[in-house]
Amino acid sequence: QRPLCRLLSCPGTVAAALGREEQSLGSAETGSEDRTPKKRFSEVQKERREQAQRTVLIHCPNKISEKKFLKYLSQHGSINNHFFYESFGLYAVVEFRQKESVASLQNVTRTPSLATEAAVPFRSRYFNLKLKTPLNQTSEQPSIQCRTQSSPSSKKLFELLCCAESVDDQLNTLLREFQLTEESTRLRYLTCSLIEDVAAAYFPDCTVRPFGSSVNSFGKLGCDLDMFLDLDEIEKFSTHKASGNFLMEFQVKNVPSERIATQKILSVVGECLDHFGPGCVGVQKILNARCPLVRFSHQASGFQCDLTTNNRIALKSSELLYMYGALDSRVRALVFSIRCWARAHSLTSSIPGAWITNFSLTVMVIFFLQRRSPPILPTLDYLKTLADAEDKCIIEGHNCTFVRDFNRIKPSGNAETLELLLKEFFEYFGNFAFNKNSINIRQGREQNKPESSPLHIQNPFETSLNISKNVSQSQLQKFVDLARESAWILHQEDKDRLSPSYNQPWGLAALLLPSVANSMSLAKKKKKPASERIKNLLESIKSSSTENSTATNGR
Ligand code: CTP
Ligand code: MG
Repeated sequence: QRPLCRLLSCPGTVAAALGREEQSLGSAETGSEDRTPKKRFSEVQKERREQAQRTVLIHCPNKISEKKFLKYLSQHGSINNHFFYESFGLYAVVEFRQKESVASLQNVTRTPSLATEAAVPFRSRYFNLKLKTPLNQTSEQPSIQCRTQSSPSSKKLFELLCCAESVDDQLNTLLREFQLTEESTRLRYLTCSLIEDVAAAYFPDCTVRPFGSSVNSFGKLGCDLDMFLDLDEIEKFSTHKASGNFLMEFQVKNVPSERIATQKILSVVGECLDHFGPGCVGVQKILNARCPLVRFSHQASGFQCDLTTNNRIALKSSELLYMYGALDSRVRALVFSIRCWARAHSLTSSIPGAWITNFSLTVMVIFFLQRRSPPILPTLDYLKTLADAEDKCIIEGHNCTFVRDFNRIKPSGNAETLELLLKEFFEYFGNFAFNKNSINIRQGREQNKPESSPLHIQNPFETSLNISKNVSQSQLQKFVDLARESAWILHQEDKDRLSPSYNQPWGLAALLLPSVANSMSLAKKKKKPASERIKNLLESIKSSSTENSTATNGR
C-alpha cells in the first residue's frame, strides 16, 4: 500500500480536482466512466454546433454586476447557460435558449464610431459591452467567478501526483486535470461558429467544424483548435432538389485541380479573417503545405487556430479516435500520460519539425492496446466488419467505414491495471523493431515497412500515407531511450516496493522529471551505451522477478 501522501500534504487539491470531473467533457460525452451512456460522435457534434449557434461572446468591463448583466441580456430571451473567463480582459460566454435572441441582441447593437480609426462594419456574435456611466469604484461589487481555461502548474501537478494513492490513481488524476473542461469545449465550438459566420460571407451555406484533439477526447487544455471549412453540405442540398428530367447545375469557374480550388478558397477566407474577422489576428496563409491551411490566433478565446478545407478524412479519424477513447476507460488515461510524458521530455513540441506528434503517440497507444492479450481495443478492420449500411463511408476513394454504435462492440475481457500498461507500453516501444516494422491499427499487427522513414505509422484511412513521415532517426532514438529509461524506473520502483523512499516523486511523477538518458544524449558519445545498458538492466530485472509477476497488479 502506498503511503497516502508521501511527499507533501495537499489539503483540498484532490477534492478540487475531483470536483472538476463533474463539469468535464470526459465522463458525460465520451463515457469514460463505464456505465455512462456513450453518445455517438455525430450526435455530440450536432448538439454542440446548435448550442454554439445560440451562443454569443461578450467582452465585458472589468467591474460588472453579474446580476444586472444577465437581466440586461434576458430582455432578448431566456438564457440557458453562461460563464465568465479571463484572457486579457473579462469575457462572458452566454448561451440563449433560442437562436432568435441572438438576432434580437444584434438588432440593438451598434457599430462603434471611432475618433481616429474607421470600423469595418461586420455584424458578428462577438460583442463589446460598455457601461454608459462607469460604476463607482468604491461601490460593493461581488466579484465575478471566472472559469479557468488553463492546466495546473507543474508544481501543482507534482503535488497532486505525489498525493495519489497508486499509479493508476496518478494516471486518472492527470487525465482529470488536463482534459478539456466543459467551458473550454463550449468556447471551441463557439469559435468555430464565429469563424463560420465570417466564411459565410463568401460561402453562405458553409459549415466550419472542429476536428483533431478539440473533439477526439484526447485534447489537453490549451491545445490548438483545428477546424475545417466544409463546403460539401452545399453539394448535398443541390442533389436533393434534382427532379424530373431536368438537372440544374451552377455555372462555376473551373480550376485545374482540387488542390488549386482548395488554395483559392482558403486564400479568400484568409483575407476575410484578416480584413473583417473580429478578434482574428496574425493571419498566415500556408497554402503550399501538403494540406493547405490558414493559421491565425483568435484573441478573445486565446486559441491558436488552423483552418483547412476539404479535410473530411481528418474529421473521420477524429471520430475513430473518439470511439477508441470511449471504448475503455483506460485508453484516455494512458494517452494523456504518454502525451504529458513526451511533452515533459521535449519529445513533442508546439513548433512543427522532426518530432513525434501527439496524433502519432495516440495511434501508438491504440496499437499497443490492440496488441495486449486479450486485446483492450479492437482493430479497425474488425470495427469495419461490424458496420451496417448506415455506417458506410467512402471519402475520396478511401474506405472509411467502421461501426459507430458503441452497443455493437463487446467490452474487453482484459483487466490489466494502468500501472502495468504504462510499464509495458514503455517496454514494448523500447524494444520495437522500428527499423523494419510499421505500426498499423487497421490490422492491429506490425507490417513490413513500405518505405524507409525511421518511424512508420500507417494512416488508418489513407493507407499509403505515413503519419510520422516527419520524424527523424535521432528523434526516434530519443523516444526509444526515454521509453527504456522510464520502463527501468518503474521496474526499479517495483523492486523497492517494500522500502519506499519518502520525499521522492514516485510512479508517474518520477517519469515526468528530467531524465538521465536525456542528459546523456547531450553528451553524444555516451548515448547508445546508456540506452543499451538500461535495456540490459531491464532484462535482468525482469528475469529475476518473473516468479513475482503478480506484483504489478493492483496495490
Ligand atoms: N492528421 C492526420 N495526419 C497527420 C496529422 C494530422 O490525419 N499526419 C489529422 C488527425 O486527425 C489529427 C488532426 O489532423 O487529429 C489534427 O492534427 P494535429 O493538430 O497535429 O493533432 P491533434 O490530434 O489535434 O493533437 P494536438 O493536441 O497536438 O493538436
Ligand atoms: Mg490539433
